[in-house]
Amino acid sequence: MLQGLQPFLALDIFAQASELEAEGRGIRHLEIGEPCSPPAPAVKQAVARHLEQERQGYTAAKGLPALREAIAGYYRNQHDVDLDPGRIVVTTGSSGAFILGFLACFPHGAKIGVTRPGYPAYVNILAGLGFEPVEIELKPQDDWRLDVASLAAAHEEHGLAGLMLASPANPTGAMVGRERFAEIIDYCTRLGIRLISDEIYHGLNFSGSCTSALEITDDAVVINSFSKYYCLTGWRIGWMVMPPDCVRQTEVLAQSMFISAPTPSQVAAMAALEERAYYDAQRERYRANRDVLVKGLEDIGFETPHGGDGGFYAYVDITRFSNDSITFCRELLENADVAVTPGVDFDRTNGHRYVRISFASDRPVIEGALTRMADYLRGR
Ligand SMILES: Cc1ncc(COP(=O)(O)O)c(C=O)c1O
Repeated sequence: MLQGLQPFLALDIFAQASELEAEGRGIRHLEIGEPCSPPAPAVKQAVARHLEQERQGYTAAKGLPALREAIAGYYRNQHDVDLDPGRIVVTTGSSGAFILGFLACFPHGAKIGVTRPGYPAYVNILAGLGFEPVEIELKPQDDWRLDVASLAAAHEEHGLAGLMLASPANPTGAMVGRERFAEIIDYCTRLGIRLISDEIYHGLNFSGSCTSALEITDDAVVINSFSKYYCLTGWRIGWMVMPPDCVRQTEVLAQSMFISAPTPSQVAAMAALEERAYYDAQRERYRANRDVLVKGLEDIGFETPHGGDGGFYAYVDITRFSNDSITFCRELLENADVAVTPGVDFDRTNGHRYVRISFASDRPVIEGALTRMADYLRGR
């Protein structure tokens, strides 16, 4: 049996919250990282039209050619990058893309750098596939941004074959600016480290612009998804752009592991790419939510809460109230009906001092949660 896998506590909290809900409690859900907005109306219409067709079959393993052309168009319009659609592979969410990317690009047992705090699935997927994750610590005083010195220290100690980096990041919302990103990519290129750039929160940036690794290099594995910005979490659809030398290998793996991504979801994705005005409006809602949340947390007395540069999470220092984020989250749920995620999910070393709060829900949910948190924490 595999050792070292860690449960995703956000989902455990969600399960506990759902049980309380079944007992009639009105839970404020701020634990799960998904938008509460529906997909754009045109997306639902496109899928409804698709469902009229008789044939509901597979697509090519790399995805519908029209969708891959449309994704290439996205890079042209958003990033000024001219991309060969042949390098694009449509996947079952970015989660499916990680599996393909790691297997296609790295030998068994390769050491891959991951940031801590970071999205916990990276470590579990890497360990599950027989790779070795190497954690690189990020610091709050650096606004949780990776720098070349920390990367170089990890490489000198462990000999990294790859680096997994998300910007904007989960759980901190930190973005590395273009200049810093170029430095990191330059270091990776010189030292033969393959970058896997998780760009799933692109489009959800509140300050500065999101730089795609494709603007700087053709050698990175670039992963993206329709889950977050495009509000299609449940459709399990994403994509990856592979370095030219790994395309065929990825395609062969995709044929065997997934056959193809779900066809109706590919139709939804194609329509979603056309609806940026709708999705930008959702981003502006998250921005307003973030500001309300940060102000509310400040008023309650949390230490300098920060809503991040992008994404839809605040990673909040709870040490004024507790030094044990798991107990803090359980008690908050049981006593105040507010569900948030323990930082331990994202950082097994220092996460006991933090919680992650999602602000992707509706404003009244956030305001209600703040009121309940204030009443509970002040009354303790
Ligand atoms: C940083 C990051 N990458 C990838 C994923 C996986 O998303 P999906 O498989 O829905 O594309 C998530 C989900 O929360 C995430 O936060």
